Amino acid sequence: MIFLVFGVLFAVPYATMESIKVAESYWTLKANELVVDEDIAKYGSKFLVPLVCGEAFEGQDITWRREGGDELQQKGNRILVMVEERQGGNYSCYSREGSYLNHTLVLVRWPYRKIIKGTPEKGYIYCSAKSYSGSFQCSWTWDEKRAGKVVLIKVTRSNQEGIITCRMTSNGQGVTCQDQAYCPYAEEWDNINFTVYFQSNYVIETYHLQFQISDIVRPDMVHIKKNTTTLELQYPETWSTPFSYFPLTFQVKEIRCRKKNCDCSKHRPRKVHLTQGREWPLKEGVTVCVRAQDDLCNSSWSEWSRFRCMKNKKKNRRRGRQKEE
Ligand SMILES: *[C@@H]1O[C@H](CO)[C@@H](O)[C@H](O)[C@H]1NC(C)=O
Ligand SMILES: *[C@@H]1O[C@H](CO)[C@@H](O)[C@H](O)[C@H]1NC(C)=O
Ligand SMILES: *[C@@H]1O[C@H](CO)[C@@H](O)[C@H](O)[C@H]1NC(C)=O
Ligand SMILES: *[C@@H]1O[C@H](CO)[C@@H](O)[C@H](O)[C@H]1NC(C)=O
Ligand SMILES: *[C@@H]1O[C@H](CO)[C@@H](O)[C@H](O)[C@H]1NC(C)=O
Repeated sequence: MIFLVFGVLFAVPYATMESIKVAESYWTLKANELVVDEDIAKYGSKFLVPLVCGEAFEGQDITWRREGGDELQQKGNRILVMVEERQGGNYSCYSREGSYLNHTLVLVRWPYRKIIKGTPEKGYIYCSAKSYSGSFQCSWTWDEKRAGKVVLIKVTRSNQEGIITCRMTSNGQGVTCQDQAYCPYAEEWDNINFTVYFQSNYVIETYHLQFQISDIVRPDMVHIKKNTTTLELQYPETWSTPFSYFPLTFQVKEIRCRKKNCDCSKHRPRKVHLTQGREWPLKEGVTVCVRAQDDLCNSSWSEWSRFRCMKNKKKNRRRGRQKEE
């Protein structure tokens, strides 16, 4: 379960020191975790971040240590630490007697997109909904080289109040969310704001998407059921009911393909049929490819389903006839 927490902006009243600038604003991601937004134009590749051990330790003899390093030269309750080339760190403070008091994890949010795979054109995070139930999924692909993890997800509706809860999928490559207040029968006026924060080492990347359920709805695969002389195109079980209120459009291609596992998406017959009807004639030797789309909005098509109608083998037919005789 990921908690929805809002970052807090601080204005820092420090002046510059030796021409290395002090980060002017930073925000807390979680307790004891500070994030500074990288701004090369403003700060250069090095900047200072102010740390406080704790209000209660004002005026005390405090020493600091960066995880994996020696004791810092800076001493006291308030110090400035340098972030160089995005090298954040985990800084702990200790009393004069050497006992641990507190720590702050310093992270840098950079503008790059490296923790997960994708391109600006294709996008990085893919969200979809199987129906109008208010449930949706967003997924991504980790970059193997980065050891990324999700540190925070913020999901809100832009206007309406209501709670959207999310949980990680078991494969760790996405989240499943549920808009508790979603009403499938009403017009969807406002957008869902979806922001995810990824962390890899001391770096943070944020990804933001805005959408409506109707933009991302994508039916599951159509079931094709063989009937005596027809094929019945069945709505996916996961689709919203009643079907008359949530009609689907089917796209049907008839292809000739000898292989058992033809790839429907690769075949381009001259005619692609569009129908809302749920019956399709059965033709010998023809493979029927079907996919579905929400009839009322131009969102994604489902994956293709296919049904291959075998030619009746002569041998079998003859044998059948012989039996009848
Ligand atoms: C420890 O440091 C955090 C900032 O990282 C601060 O918010 C918190 O109040 C400090 N805890 C104490 C006990 O002073
Ligand atoms: C940072 O250091 C503190 C104190 O040693 C430790 O409790 C905490 O788990 C560390 N955090 C990370 C993210 O390594
Ligand atoms: C949703 O996102 C838009 C665009 O980023 C922003 O202007 C708006 O304030 C956000 N609304 C909420 C409730 O977060
Ligand atoms: C064949 O399809 C029709 C129309 O969809 C349906 O009424 C009938 O029950 C089906 N027959 C079988 C055997 O499934
Ligand atoms: C539906 O969407 C597709 C792809 O996004 C686009 O090419 C097509 O023109 C759209 N059709 C209508 C009727 O808006």
